[in-house]
Amino acid sequence: MTHAPKKRVAVIGATGRIGGQIVEWFSRTGRYDVLGLSHQDLDVVDESAVKRRLLHQPLDVVINTAAFHSVDGCQRDPRTSFAVNAIGAMNVAAACREIDALCVYLSTDYVFDGRQESPHDEDARPNPINVYGVSKLAGEQLTMSTAPRRLIFRVERVFGPPGPGRPPSTYVDALYDKAAHGQTIRAVDSHTMSPTYSRDAVKLLDDLLQAGATGVIHATNGGSCTWLEFTQTLLSMLPFDVPVESVPAESFLSDTPRPTHTALRSKRIKQILGREMRHWSEALREYLVAMGYIEE
Ligand SMILES: NC(=O)c1ccc[n+]([C@@H]2O[C@H](COP(=O)([O-])OP(=O)(O)OC[C@H]3O[C@@H](n4cnc5c(N)ncnc54)[C@H](OP(=O)(O)O)[C@@H]3O)[C@@H](O)[C@H]2O)c1
Repeated sequence: MTHAPKKRVAVIGATGRIGGQIVEWFSRTGRYDVLGLSHQDLDVVDESAVKRRLLHQPLDVVINTAAFHSVDGCQRDPRTSFAVNAIGAMNVAAACREIDALCVYLSTDYVFDGRQESPHDEDARPNPINVYGVSKLAGEQLTMSTAPRRLIFRVERVFGPPGPGRPPSTYVDALYDKAAHGQTIRAVDSHTMSPTYSRDAVKLLDDLLQAGATGVIHATNGGSCTWLEFTQTLLSMLPFDVPVESVPAESFLSDTPRPTHTALRSKRIKQILGREMRHWSEALREYLVAMGYIEE
């Protein structure tokens, strides 16, 4: 029996939530030779370090998950935001061009302005309203204009296991913790989103790479919800009886402008793979079981 040759893949940001899952899943499939690069191994801002690391070995795919993604942090420090999210992305894309590798850039729903109430598909026009969103859109555009072969992979509100050696850190873990301690949970009902389970997104990326997909992909789970709806659904799956309070966004969020409606949906996944992403609530239940928060 002949096997397809393994794809050689470098994952930048390999200790992160999504990077860690990519390294784990891609290694497990046996379809890839995976080179995981932590921030310590490679700083994408350092152009010569990027060249040293990426130009002298055969790679078919480079997945860039590195980001400065604190929304308030980016607003306070646009220079670092652009250095990592935009110039860093260009450095990686330029290396991909040199070695003829597919460049995958992880991006975000925050490239949209949030005025469209219905979910955004891949044709929706980006128009970011804060520094994080502007820097990520710049990262997308620099990746597109620099790497001849590229895949822009947009996710949002990611939950899932932590990066290797790191404690659970997503909003789901935080909400579980509050509920387990009997604390009242406050949630905003005005902002809509599409949660992303990191394991589902990573399996999708694997399928897309095998299918040779390029361009922009919206990689969230199916369906959309407000934070309040998400919290209520989560609590309905947990064995704790805690109150949930609906609060206005102003009393909860910082002054940094945030898009109100950023649910994503994909029309391309169906076209390319003939399937759709499962609903976020099904993925959420699986994550709660995987973490031992609830029984199957
Ligand atoms: N998490 C979400 O809800 C979400 C939503 C939308 C989009 N995204 C996008 O998804 C991607 C991955 O996010 P994530 O949640 O996995 O974030 P994460 O857990 O913070 O992982 C990011 C990784 O990048 C590394 N990194 C940071 N700066 C770097 C640099 N200058 N050079 C090289 N590596 C660097 C980090 O290392 P250190 O921690 O050691 O610095 C970390 O390993 C990002 O592009 C983000 O914009 C995430």
